[in-house]
Amino acid sequence: MPIDLRSYSERSAFDQEISSLFEQRFFVGNAASFKEIDTYKSFALGKKIVTVRKTAAGIKAFANVCLHRSNIIDPLGEGKRHFSCGFHGWSYDANGELSLAPFSERSCIKNRNLASFPIIESGGLLFTGLSGALPIVDKVPGALEKIGMTVSAPFHKEHILHKCNWKLLVENILESYHLNFVHRNTFLKSGFTSTSIHEWAAEDYVNLASITPLPSTDKTTAIRRLARNAAHVYRHAYIFPNLFISNTNDLVGFISHIIPLDEKTTQLSWELFELPQLFALPAPVREHVRNEAIQFSQTTLEEDRTMVESCQIGISSEMRSVQLQAIEDRVSHFHDFYNRHMIHAQ
Ligand code: FES
Ligand SMILES: [Fe+2]
Repeated sequence: MPIDLRSYSERSAFDQEISSLFEQRFFVGNAASFKEIDTYKSFALGKKIVTVRKTAAGIKAFANVCLHRSNIIDPLGEGKRHFSCGFHGWSYDANGELSLAPFSERSCIKNRNLASFPIIESGGLLFTGLSGALPIVDKVPGALEKIGMTVSAPFHKEHILHKCNWKLLVENILESYHLNFVHRNTFLKSGFTSTSIHEWAAEDYVNLASITPLPSTDKTTAIRRLARNAAHVYRHAYIFPNLFISNTNDLVGFISHIIPLDEKTTQLSWELFELPQLFALPAPVREHVRNEAIQFSQTTLEEDRTMVESCQIGISSEMRSVQLQAIEDRVSHFHDFYNRHMIHAQ
């Protein structure tokens, strides 16, 4: 059964998605980006404002609203700063407990602890459970292994705002039907087309695929001139609800994740990192591959953005229509999984 199309533009559906889906398991970042104490990433999800930070006691997730007069403690985004509110200097320790309240009488402060949320690392990826329950990530290591992924520190990061519902981004990423039409100058040129060999498998909240070019567009020989054991293949995993990971030619890893801001606005954050085969190559070759990957990603994501934003206008209209085809089988799986979890939560 397809997802009810009203849920792409209605606030009530969005609110339920936040509590039933996103608060259960929410990818928050690459653990390699939280190496130094006081590095943080802060975001808003529904009515919660959260900061994930590296503390002396490990990586933690806290409510990011000051206990004094509700200022946001870590500004939304990423950076490195002391865990201290910029308004009147109230500061918090590695457990989210108030450690300093300048010019104040401690006995007048009753609430001294920021709420915290469980956070778990799996295969170098960080997930939090904003409902308060530990997120289930048992299938993540197997998924990473199947797509040949070793996560490391990113060499490039960006954010891109989409004026569309988050589900349109997911659906777009889960099908390669559009490659011949939307990505003529990118995927098509690199040998991946709508009719490439598409294998996929899904288990519960993990949806995996590999796309191999047809013999007529195969570039294995050229790629192996660069790296002996590389392959001409695109492997992809979607970890429901907000994480996408892909491996291009066993050289470059790509992680992107969505943060739904409201029913018609979604932030996509993405990063690229080198896979072991690329690390092993000479520095100038690595630099060339890195630069190509940045350009390729920027262009394809812009191409996709135009399309999903246009779909948002259509799907919000009274003429909306969706008729999924066999070639969009991963999207159908997403719809089934989504429906099961939304209905189950009612
Ligand atoms: S609001 Fe944070 S210290 Fe006053
Ligand atoms: Fe695309």
